[in-house]
This record gives sequence, C-alpha cells and structure tokens, in this order.
Amino acid sequence: MTSSDHSIVVSDVSKCFPIYDRPFHRLLQMVYRRRRTFSREFWALRDISFSVERGETVGIVGRNGSGKSTLLQMICGTLATTTGNIEVKGRIGALLELGSGFNPEFTGRENVYMSAAVLGLSREETEHRFDDIVAFADIAKFIDQPVKTYSSGMALRLAFAVQSQIDPDVLIVDEALAVGDARFQAKCFDRLKRLKENGTSILLVTHSSDQIVNHCSRAVLLDSGQLVMQGEPRDVVNKYMDLLFGGDRRAAEETAPELIVSGTTEHGMDHHPLSLSQDVFSNKAGYNHHEYRWGDGAASILDFSLRADGHEPHIIISGQAIHLSASVRFNRTVVRPIFGITIKTREGVTVAGTNSELLSDEVHTHGIGDGGSGVVVHLKFRCALATGDYFISLGVASRTEETIVPHDRRYDAVHFTVAPTNTFYGLADLDLRMDISEAAKRI
Ligand SMILES: Nc1ncnc2c1ncn2[C@@H]1O[C@H](COP(=O)(O)OP(=O)(O)OP(=O)(O)O)[C@@H](O)[C@H]1O
Ligand SMILES: [Mg+2]
Repeated sequence: MTSSDHSIVVSDVSKCFPIYDRPFHRLLQMVYRRRRTFSREFWALRDISFSVERGETVGIVGRNGSGKSTLLQMICGTLATTTGNIEVKGRIGALLELGSGFNPEFTGRENVYMSAAVLGLSREETEHRFDDIVAFADIAKFIDQPVKTYSSGMALRLAFAVQSQIDPDVLIVDEALAVGDARFQAKCFDRLKRLKENGTSILLVTHSSDQIVNHCSRAVLLDSGQLVMQGEPRDVVNKYMDLLFGGDRRAAEETAPELIVSGTTEHGMDHHPLSLSQDVFSNKAGYNHHEYRWGDGAASILDFSLRADGHEPHIIISGQAIHLSASVRFNRTVVRPIFGITIKTREGVTVAGTNSELLSDEVHTHGIGDGGSGVVVHLKFRCALATGDYFISLGVASRTEETIVPHDRRYDAVHFTVAPTNTFYGLADLDLRMDISEAAKRI
C-alpha cells in the first residue's frame, strides 16, 4: 500500500482501552500484571485503514466519542496502536485536543524554543523563524510573559504559529481552531492553504461541516470506532448529518398515522402527510436532538417536513425555495392559536422570525382549535442565507388578555445546512447588484 506519494498510511489499526470499573482495580492490575484481569476491553477504534497523499487535506468527522482524537494521537505517535500499523513520513506538526502542549510556567519565548526542539529544529533554525512565529501569533507584547497568563485563544495563536511555521510535512489539527476568533481562524486557513500548496499533508478534525466542505479535498467519517465512509467532502458531510440528525427515517414512514391532515395540492403536501396522532418529530431528518422544548401541553407540535425546491434536502443551496410544514394537535381547546417560527444561526443570532399574529393579514388563522383536532402549518421562504448551519424553532401559543401562553415551543428543533456560495458573503443574500457604467468623456 505504501507509495512514494503517501504521507500517512494507516493499515488495519485498532485501539483497545482497558476499562476499570473501580479505581483500585487499576492498582490490582499492576500488582497481578497478566496473571489476572481486572478490566473490561473497550475498542475505541476497529480496523481503520486509509491513507493521505502528499499535499492532501483530509477532514475527519464523527460524533463525540467516535474515536477521532484517539486516531490522531496514534498518528502523532503519542499513543500506541493495539493492532495494525501507521506510517508517517517526515516532520509532524500537531495541535491536539489537549491544549497547546506548552509549559504554563515558562514564557512564550521559552515555549517556542522548547516546542521547536521537540519538533526537531536546531536553536539556529528556531532563531531564524522566531520573528515570523511571533508575528503570525500577533502576541509580541506578551511573548516574555509566562504562558499561564495567556488566554486560551492566545495560547492557540502561539501554538498554531509554531506548528505551522516549522514547515511540517504533516500537520494534524484536532478541533483546536475552534478556540480562535473568526479573524485568526481565517488567517489559519490561509496558512493551511499555503502549506498545502507546498506539499504539506493536513489532517483536520472539526465539527464544522463548512470547514470540511471548504478546505478539505477528502473526508473520512468515523462512527463508534469504525470507518463508515470516505470520499468527497460533501458526500461525507451529508452522511454525517444523517447520523447526527437523521434519526431513523424509515421507522418514521412506517408509523402509520391514524389521523392525517392531508394538505391541498397547492401546498404540495400530498406525498408527505404529517402525523397528527403520534409525536414523530424526532424521527425526521433534520431533527436536532438538542432542542429545548417547553409549554403547557394544550397543543403539541408532532411532526414536520422540510423541503427545498420540492425535495427533502441534506444541504440547502442558497436561494432555494423552502417549504416547512408542521402538524399541530390541540389537546385542549385553544382560542385563537398563534403559530411562530424563528431561524437562528449556530451562534444563536436570530436571522428572522414571525408568527401568524404578525402576519394576520396574510394568514387565514383558525379561530378556535378544538381539543382533539389538528392543523398543518405551512411556512415558506426563500433561503437567502450564506453558508452555515441554521436552527429553526417552532411554537404554538395563544393570548389571554395581555399575556402569551406558550403551549408547545420547540427551540432549535430543526437543523439545516446551507452550502457554500460564491456570489456573496456575510449572513444573507440581499440580492446586491453591481453595474459599472462608463463615465462621460471629458471634453
Ligand atoms: N484513555 C482512555 N481510556 C479509556 N477510554 C478512552 C480513553 N481515551 C478515549 N477513550 C474512549 O474512546 C472513545 C473515543 O474517544 P475520542 O476522544 O477518540 O473521541 P472523539 O471522536 O475525539 O470525540 P470528540 O468529538 O468528543 O472529541 C470514547 O468512547 C472515549 O471514552
Ligand atoms: Mg476529540
């Protein structure tokens, strides 16, 4: 499998951790050595094989605990494999999950020299690069302060500067960049691009699907210690989204709803009836398990469907027409129900929101929701959003005199991802136009 162009070759690697149910079992194990076993086996990784070519950037995705960091530590050589073999060619730079690797008692300057020495640089080589490192980290004022006085972002800046300025053949980044501010992140990705052009192979663990799609040439998906898929970043991210938010879609289709409010053809709902008898919301693709739900239970939001240009999307293309439907069952009589929607970014910034009261001129609202009856609420919008992850909250409430009574609020219940765009940047597409006309000639 080894070819001269491979920087990393991982062959049939597995990692088993001994798990001790009680702390003193670990002690007993040391005493008894191999004569008796006090631990259980936990296989964090099983039979992983993949390779990274020179100059390739490979993204690794997977849920928490899927084995990403364990794999990276074995590639860096800080953790031994249980079985299998890993070959890495050349100098490895690494930013691992466990922090910058700096000694907090020493100054930034001393730590730069120590890290560079660990990476195999001579004192002269480090001196030669020192100014570039400090300039990249942009922490010149603090370079002679002990690292324990640095913020986590400052420590990351310095660590990234050291690891990326030593011209590594392989650079391994485990979620570290998430600590940096947006400007520094952009600078890091710029630097990664240049390293890649010079032939550095990069392994990047991130939970950001944008980063995978934008910066990686290939991606690998781990789940429960197994390599589930490798290939085109977009395909792998789709599969990852499926694992994260997909639920069991088939199961949802099989739970035959007893009562169906089948929309009119005008709403295009014929093929996708929503359940009004059982709460199947969490079985649907796009459901976010971290939703926050509350309300007095007089009404329940039971089911939803999210369609983009008529299809159930994995990733939405900016500009597509979105049709979100949600079924609401009234468990008790609700007078003049109000239906609401809010769309937020991953950081929690509200992009837009509205409700049937604000839109009362346009929405034909049902005056009274009788206990046992239900409605399907249809929401349509053009997804003029920039690339990123977004969360939709849905709610049903009603007004008693001057207060609003929330019946069912499902915050951040639906997740969707917008694919990268190349015609605008920022948060939303304001349909900015540009026209350049020739100026009148001077006479
Ligand atoms: N030293 C250890 N002893 C026992 N179990 C461990 C050890 N290190 C990791 N594990 C287990 O191995 C599994 C994989 O952990 P790992 O840190 O590689 O996951 P991860 O994919 O990096 O997750 P995250 O996205 O949360 O960073 C987890 O179940 C974890 O509990
Ligand atoms: Mg990890």
